[in-house]
Amino acid sequence: MSDIILGIESSCDDTSAAVIRDGWLLSNVIASQDVHKAYGGVVPELASRAHELNIVPVVSQALARAGVSPQELDAIAFTRGPGLLGSLLVGTSFAKALGLALDVPIIMVNHLQGHLLAGFVRQEGKEVREPAFPYLCLLVSGGNSQIVRVDSPLEYTILGQTIDDAVGEAFDKCSKMMGLGYPGGPVIDRLAKEGDPARFKFAKPHVPGLDYSFSGVKTSLLYFVRDRIAEDPDFMEKNKEDICASFQKTLIDILMDKLIKAARQTGIKDIAIGGGVSANSGLRQRVEAEGRKRGWRTFLPEFKFTTDNAAMIAIAGYYHYLAGERTSLDVAPVSRLSEF
Ligand code: KG4
Repeated sequence: MSDIILGIESSCDDTSAAVIRDGWLLSNVIASQDVHKAYGGVVPELASRAHELNIVPVVSQALARAGVSPQELDAIAFTRGPGLLGSLLVGTSFAKALGLALDVPIIMVNHLQGHLLAGFVRQEGKEVREPAFPYLCLLVSGGNSQIVRVDSPLEYTILGQTIDDAVGEAFDKCSKMMGLGYPGGPVIDRLAKEGDPARFKFAKPHVPGLDYSFSGVKTSLLYFVRDRIAEDPDFMEKNKEDICASFQKTLIDILMDKLIKAARQTGIKDIAIGGGVSANSGLRQRVEAEGRKRGWRTFLPEFKFTTDNAAMIAIAGYYHYLAGERTSLDVAPVSRLSEF
């Protein structure tokens, strides 16, 4: 007998549904929301309204593409948090209603655990290459920057995390400061490829242990840009590639210093990355280069699994399902990790 799990993800501005059978991906549908671009960031109320519009067609499409009828589902996994409360409410309520209608269990998933396990989604026709436990995962997104030791699919420990901004926020705020639009990460990544990463220097934080801080480097960029524009109003336009390359390098240096330290302290050599910022080409190259130098086995997610997606929620839900976990219908979504 096979286990078929529907995953639902609605924590921020992507509505996604995926179907997996025994850990193998049958479908993964994502509806992104362009409505936020005009505002330079995600507007929570608009996000939850867009989720309401998207959720039925997205789930229907995921089931149709998988060739699975609702009656064949064994469980419905959904993101309980962390994320935007209004957005989470849509996915959570939908999962409860569908679970009730079909009389199948619902399983709550921590969004971050989804990112940690994204590498375990198996795909037909693709090589199965998974990290061995325990492995380290650098989890980097618009809401998080963490180094996590993953001991088993359901057991993990956060070894270090940001004490202020997430690294994705630093990318996004830098882009906003430079008038390059939202989300900033992909634009900065693209421009950085044309620039000189050694041209400008930005302040790096001194934070003890394995924790991160990104607010100082952001302020350093703000003052740098303000002072240079005072001397030459066209400074930004003339140098945007070099600024992006130098700023991106600083962020990657900060991330890598602590990741290397964590690998050294734990002796762990299987190293994964995950979350939206793991799409960054500079970070991916650095992780691979450090891996070659230090004898790590590195695991970079496919691009479609770097941003929010329901395949990772379905796989995490699958492991909870196998462990016999079921979630009560009176569950409420939570916006913060600490409430989980
Ligand atoms: O994981 P994610 O889709 O959403 C959450 O924050 O949960 O991550 C979004 C973040 C944004 O800050 C975006 O700018 C960043 O990921 N991002 C990137 C790249 N693509 C997306 N940052 C750097 N380089 C990229 N190529």
